[in-house]
Amino acid sequence: MQDGCEVAMKCECLKARESRRRLKASGLEKLIERYRLDNFQCFKPWQEAMRRKAEAFLAEGGDSWFFAGGQPGIGKTHLCTAIAGELLSRGNQVIYMLWRDESVKLKANVNEPEYQKSAWLLKNCEILYIDDLFKTQYDEFSGKPKPPTVGDVNLAFEILNYRYNNRLKTIISSEHTIDGLIRIDEAAGSRIYEMSKKFCVSFSRDPSKNQRMV
Ligand SMILES: Nc1ncnc2c1ncn2[C@@H]1O[C@H](COP(=O)(O)OP(=O)(O)O)[C@@H](O)[C@H]1O
Ligand SMILES: [Mg+2]
Repeated sequence: MQDGCEVAMKCECLKARESRRRLKASGLEKLIERYRLDNFQCFKPWQEAMRRKAEAFLAEGGDSWFFAGGQPGIGKTHLCTAIAGELLSRGNQVIYMLWRDESVKLKANVNEPEYQKSAWLLKNCEILYIDDLFKTQYDEFSGKPKPPTVGDVNLAFEILNYRYNNRLKTIISSEHTIDGLIRIDEAAGSRIYEMSKKFCVSFSRDPSKNQRMV
């Protein structure tokens, strides 16, 4: 008691319970055990660059976004999950959206009340981590990912534009480069570009970078 006022303090066990709840709600419980910054190895300068950007983002990211773009296997999910894990451990609310699964569910429910509820959370949560934005199948001939559908582009714009307008931190990984995203949809792509300018790692295709093959 101080001057007749009661001061409510959160006890350690309540804080621990809250952080366990946030971790469960994030959808990242399993992934963050595996993908951490301390086991993100840097054998090559481009990996060093990825890690440095992630560290800088965690140190001085403010309300900027983080973007990791490029072919499969270069460590995008590993790095973005490590960032999300660190932010969760600092007590932030993080929601994980695996694009190819969540986008299918959302598009199927677009006229149902669940849509509003799910979309509201993705738009308003403190930190949103979208993994594999616009993930599509690969074109057999060009070897490049096929373009996403109009429904995908509209959904991405709805979420990203809301977060852009409200300056809400967002972490994005995609097999498309930042230029590729701008070509797919200039409105969504240029917002990602603007918000993640200082914290963007985006690589064009180079098979030797695939860490699943080393
Ligand atoms: N720099 C790295 N250090 C340690 N493991 C890595 C690194 N980059 C990728 N990996 C591992 O390679 C696999 C593929 O990485 P992932 O992050 O899933 O790639 P992407 O999301 O770019 O397809 C994962 O098992 C991941 O832990
Ligand atoms: Mg990935």
